[in-house]
Amino acid sequence: MCYDCSAEPNKAGTSRRSFTRFLAAGAGLTVLAACTPEAPKAVAPSSAAPSVSPSPAAVTAAASPTADPPTAAPAPPEPSPTPSPSAALPRQFSLTDPASPWLIVNKHRPLVPATYVPADLMQPAVATTASGEAALLNSTTAAAAEAMFAAAARDGVSMVLASGYRSYSTQAATYNGYVASRGQADADTASARPGYSEHQTGWAFDIADGSGVCGFQPCFADQPAAVWAKANGHRFGFVVRYPWMFHPITGYYYEPWHLRYIGVEAATDMANRGIFTLEEYFGVEPAPGYL
Ligand code: DAL
Ligand code: ZN
Repeated sequence: MCYDCSAEPNKAGTSRRSFTRFLAAGAGLTVLAACTPEAPKAVAPSSAAPSVSPSPAAVTAAASPTADPPTAAPAPPEPSPTPSPSAALPRQFSLTDPASPWLIVNKHRPLVPATYVPADLMQPAVATTASGEAALLNSTTAAAAEAMFAAAARDGVSMVLASGYRSYSTQAATYNGYVASRGQADADTASARPGYSEHQTGWAFDIADGSGVCGFQPCFADQPAAVWAKANGHRFGFVVRYPWMFHPITGYYYEPWHLRYIGVEAATDMANRGIFTLEEYFGVEPAPGYL
């Protein structure tokens, strides 16, 4: 069983319908990966993850991405021929500190500590269908979200915050719900295990369209909010974290609703260079499954 792996991601309405049926059938990542999709990018992910030391200066800067760049931590050696963010961007942030906008959390890189709670959670002034902790983001992401939602509205696009912060215990309940309904293999293609979710950092959130159509479904990719966010999110520091057909790198199927803040400079640099995943951009290894 295989859906149309050769489909062009942005114009794959038919394939997304097939993809929906595929998901509904409860098939897992192993089968999907056997489809041999179009090679995601020529950028070679490195197995050597650069480790930017979280010096006090870096930690301070991480809490405020618009602050001056840290001066204490020199850029690490470049592990691949690919131009690195350190060569292209003036600012450097930790890839491991959960309070850093450049944190990479994936199936190979759990949060440390696993029960991390952002110190600066707040509710952004945006339209939301979420309540309680799910309406919260860290303060940097909240400000960026407010700017992005306002810009979308000026363009006539109605965007809604559908799910923001999740504590470790909430993520555990969410993941366990997926496992109960779909089995663990399939759950792992859609929901992070507790301690492995960007939602726990406050740097990520899910959007919905103001119409409510196709919420958390593959067809959301064609809704105005998703189309707008994909085209404009970088202007506000956001990337679509789990892009179409990059699951062999990210570990998750396409989530056009899941936006991740990394800062305007890095997000714009990724867009300009046509790099879709944080793993490739920051030169860390792909994480299709848990270690
Ligand atoms: N849906 C994403 C992968 C999460 O659970 O964090
Ligand atoms: Zn999400």
